Amino acid sequence: MAMGSKYSEYALVCPVLYGAGAVEELPNKVKMFGASKAFLVYDAGVKASGMAERITGLLEQAGISVAAFDDVKADPTDAAVEAIGEAAQAAGSEVVIGLGGGSVLDSAKMVALLLKTPGRVADHFLTTPGALEAGPAPSAPLILIPTTSGSGSEVSIVAVISHAVTHAKDAVFTAANSVILDPELTVTAPPHVTAFAGLDVLAHALEAYTSASADPLSSLVAYEAIRLVAANLKRVYDDGSDIEARSNMAIASNFAGMAFNNTGLHFGHTFGHELGGAFNLPHGMASAYAIPTVIRFTGKHDPERAAKIAEAFGVASAEEAAQKATELMRYVGIKKFSENGITVEAAQALAEDAIAHNVFFHNTVVPLAVDDFKALIAEIVTTYDED
Ligand SMILES: [Fe+2]
Repeated sequence: MAMGSKYSEYALVCPVLYGAGAVEELPNKVKMFGASKAFLVYDAGVKASGMAERITGLLEQAGISVAAFDDVKADPTDAAVEAIGEAAQAAGSEVVIGLGGGSVLDSAKMVALLLKTPGRVADHFLTTPGALEAGPAPSAPLILIPTTSGSGSEVSIVAVISHAVTHAKDAVFTAANSVILDPELTVTAPPHVTAFAGLDVLAHALEAYTSASADPLSSLVAYEAIRLVAANLKRVYDDGSDIEARSNMAIASNFAGMAFNNTGLHFGHTFGHELGGAFNLPHGMASAYAIPTVIRFTGKHDPERAAKIAEAFGVASAEEAAQKATELMRYVGIKKFSENGITVEAAQALAEDAIAHNVFFHNTVVPLAVDDFKALIAEIVTTYDED
């Protein structure tokens, strides 16, 4: 991404094999890397769904041996991924496969890096002096298979990893070589997981679309992601087995990921990251809160893009789009701030730390000072609680 530059730089990370049932092609993808020993990374939810067993069977039938780590925790830390990396080393694995949501995909990205470049994650954190300039370290071949429509991590060039000691979120350059986007794998996600992940997609798409670093490609895919979430999130929340709506959400998530990988995010996720950490809220829920305010902010400062957002929601104005988004958030059970015990003052108190912790804060179409951000936070809280 080229945040803060007068140029826009856009890229696509790797091939995406898309379609219901596409995971059947996994053994062929592994063999394309000349590998016969795979390391599969997943979590307890994927294990319980039977998906890991099915995928292990697919690989073994094709003569590929499988070692695995089956217990990835949410918000992975450097210490946690180093331990998984050592297990992959010990197994002599040649290719890494991540099967799951954002935390699993980010863990698998780090395992692939550590397999080829053994050592400490701390050396690669983008906040470590020199790491940003050094670019990505060599990685083993990596195949990512999302099982939720949310993070878009499969097509981003970073893994989000927390410092084990401070719990601060950081990032490391590392990307997939191959993605399998199979909407059938997302049908078992329960309604609340589907809803939070889907709103995270909407937040990614809106912030990418309204970013100061917007570029022609990202604008196209971000617009389409907004349109797809607006039309399909209620459907997948009401009926998780609706494969057409699940397919549309899978594409939306993937497109939004492509967009914000290029453009970065801005004040919505700056607030969401800090809010989620401070009040222990799931990422998707915390990041969703700013959605109506991002739309209204765009209405004030960028009427052209605001009109396109309204069009993507199928309404006539940014204000109506903001109301639609609020309705959607209420419909899927995003609690009011007051129901979470969060006051305007408590939310505003996060502003300084939020700015310090999130490089993409300065990525809005008009620059924001701390007081502007505090005013936006007050708007986020009061409008969601009162609208
Ligand atoms: Fe997000």
